[in-house]
Amino acid sequence: MTATAEAPAEIGAVETFEVTLRVKRQNPEGNDAHGPGEEYWEEFQLTCLATDRVLDALHQIKWNVDGTLNFRRSCAHGVCGSDAMRINAKNRLACSTLLKDLNPARPITVEPIAGLPVLKDLIVDMEPFFASYREIMPFLMTTGPTPERERLQSPEDRERFDDTTKCILCAACTTACPVFWTDGQYFGPQAIVGAHRFIFDSRDEGQWERLEILNDRAGVWKCRTAFNCTEACPRGIEVTKAISEVKHALNTGEV
Ligand code: SF4
Ligand code: F3S
Ligand code: FES
Repeated sequence: MTATAEAPAEIGAVETFEVTLRVKRQNPEGNDAHGPGEEYWEEFQLTCLATDRVLDALHQIKWNVDGTLNFRRSCAHGVCGSDAMRINAKNRLACSTLLKDLNPARPITVEPIAGLPVLKDLIVDMEPFFASYREIMPFLMTTGPTPERERLQSPEDRERFDDTTKCILCAACTTACPVFWTDGQYFGPQAIVGAHRFIFDSRDEGQWERLEILNDRAGVWKCRTAFNCTEACPRGIEVTKAISEVKHALNTGEV
């Protein structure tokens, strides 16, 4: 089915271009044309601004063409991590992806991220992803009395885990990982990034508990260094490098 959105009147003299968005849809209850849970593609013809992102195109559909389209988003500025999607076969944030950078002369495909159960259209069940994150205990663990003021740390010690503090829990890395797709047990790269952020924090005392969890058969040894995770990360985190640092700590016993 193809649906078309009228260009908003106020666009006026601002540069616009035509875009075809192909969206993979699925409704657990079904609709007039498709059975419950049946996957299908729907095409939308849109008039977009040169500055529009994929999220703007999805909003245009939702608000002007078909209010039944479902997707997650919140901040719209690459901070909350809620709108990771598979756009032209790559995991990206819809709010950080400009349409004009996607060769809009051809149809642009938008699908849910892979490897997690689809709830409806572009919305997946994130619970298995967050369950892995909870496993690695993503909070500061200390013994002894709480200091009266902040826990001090040198700039050099802070630098050791700076990269992995940037994670926004979008799941683009984990759902791009071929081991995660096929294994069914692997914690996935994000859980290792989340653990890395505390393992290499000089103020934390729970690093060996976390390393023991990641030494499990669902842990770091499942990683086959495919690098999809690093390529997918919208925050530019060196995910594969973080995983290799955790493997090194387990191999050498040194943090
Ligand atoms: Fe998203 Fe990157 Fe964090 Fe993975 S490591 S969840 S891709 S921000
Ligand atoms: Fe998967 Fe990344 Fe390892 S894509 S195999 S976690 S390097
Ligand atoms: Fe928050 Fe895209 S909507 S990161």
